[in-house]
Amino acid sequence: MVKHIKKVLVTGGAGFIGSHLVDRLMAEGNDVVVYDNLSLGKKEFIAPHFGNPKFAFVEADLLEVGKLTKAMKGRDVVFHLAANSNIIKSSKNPDIDLEQGTAATYNVLQAMRETGVGKLVFTSSNVVYGEATVSPTAENYGPLLPISFYGASKLACEAVISAYVHNFGIQAWMYRFGNIVGKRPTHGVVLDFYEKLKKDPSVLPVLGDGKQSKPYIEVHDCVDGMLFGLVHAHEPLNLFNLGTTGGVFVRDIADIVIAEMGLKNVEVRFAGGVRGWPGDVHTVRLDVSKLKSLGWKPKYPTSLEAFSAGAKDILADLKMKHS
Ligand SMILES: NC(=O)c1ccc[n+]([C@@H]2O[C@H](COP(=O)([O-])OP(=O)(O)OC[C@H]3O[C@@H](n4cnc5c(N)ncnc54)[C@H](O)[C@@H]3O)[C@@H](O)[C@H]2O)c1
Repeated sequence: MVKHIKKVLVTGGAGFIGSHLVDRLMAEGNDVVVYDNLSLGKKEFIAPHFGNPKFAFVEADLLEVGKLTKAMKGRDVVFHLAANSNIIKSSKNPDIDLEQGTAATYNVLQAMRETGVGKLVFTSSNVVYGEATVSPTAENYGPLLPISFYGASKLACEAVISAYVHNFGIQAWMYRFGNIVGKRPTHGVVLDFYEKLKKDPSVLPVLGDGKQSKPYIEVHDCVDGMLFGLVHAHEPLNLFNLGTTGGVFVRDIADIVIAEMGLKNVEVRFAGGVRGWPGDVHTVRLDVSKLKSLGWKPKYPTSLEAFSAGAKDILADLKMKHS
C-alpha cells in the first residue's frame, strides 16, 4: 500500500505508536531510520529490526540539531512522532512541551528544509480542540483553545507546519489522534490501572469522577489510518481526525481492566472532580468521517471495540511478562 515510500525517518520510533509504525514500514519493504532519545521509548520495541540492512537506529535528542540534520539526509518522508507524551507531568511544567513539542518540531522542519526532505507526517491530538462546544468535533471546528500545555504545543506545531508548507513547499499530513491503545504502552490508563492493582488488588484509586469519556483507537488501526491518508490525500496540507466513533468512560475502563486481570471485590475509589488533572478535557467525541470518506476502514470502528481489543493485548503481554 505504501509503495511510493522508500526512505523514511521516524522520530519517536522506539516509542509505543512509533514502534508499531516501524514494524509496518519494515514489513512493506521500506528503508527506515529511527531517531529516538529513549526517554520513554525502549530498544526492545524495535529489537526485531536490528541487523536488517534496511534499518538503522540513531539514539539522539531532537534538540541536537546537527545529529538530526545528519540523520535526515537522503530521506523521502519524515514521520514526526517524538514528543512529551506525559500530559499530566507537563501540566506542572510548561517548559516540557515548549522544548519537547514546539521547539523539537521547529528543529525537524528546519532540518527538512536544510536537507530538502519534502514530506512530513505529524502526530497531533484531539486536545487541540480544548473544550469544544460541537460534538462530535470535526477538523474545521474553531476557535481552537486548548486547555493543556501539551495541547497548546500540538496546536503551535500545527501552525508552524502550516507556515512551512506555505513558505517552503513542504507537503504535510497532520493527524489529530483520539486515545491510542494497544501493545507496548509507555504510558496511559491501562498501564496505570494495571500497576496500581498489582500493588494493591483490593483498591483502585481513579483520578476524577469516572465520568470522563474519550474516543479510543487500536494502535494497528492508527498506523493504518496514518498511512492511508498519506497515500490517498494529496493537498499541500492534509488534516485529519484519526479515531473511532463514540467514547469509553473511565469507570468502564476500570471495570474492563479489573475483569481482564481476573480480580473480584475491588473497591474503585474515585478522587472526585470533573477532571482527572488540570488540563484534562472531560468529554471528547471526534468526527472521523473525513478520512473515512476517502475509503479508510478501521478494523475496530467504535471506541468500545477498539479499547477492549487494545486493553486485552496489553494485559495479556503484561501478565506474560510478570508470570
Ligand atoms: N498515545 C496516545 O494516545 C496519543 C494520543 C494523541 C497523540 N499522540 C502523539 O503520538 C506521538 C507518539 O505517542 P506515543 O504514545 O507513542 O508516545 P511515546 O512516549 O511512547 O513515544 C514518543 C517517543 O519519542 C521519544 N522522544 C521524546 N522526546 C524526544 C526527543 N526530544 N528527542 C528524541 N526522541 C524523543 C521517546 O523516547 C518515545 O520513544 C506523540 O507525538 C504523541 O503526542 C499520542
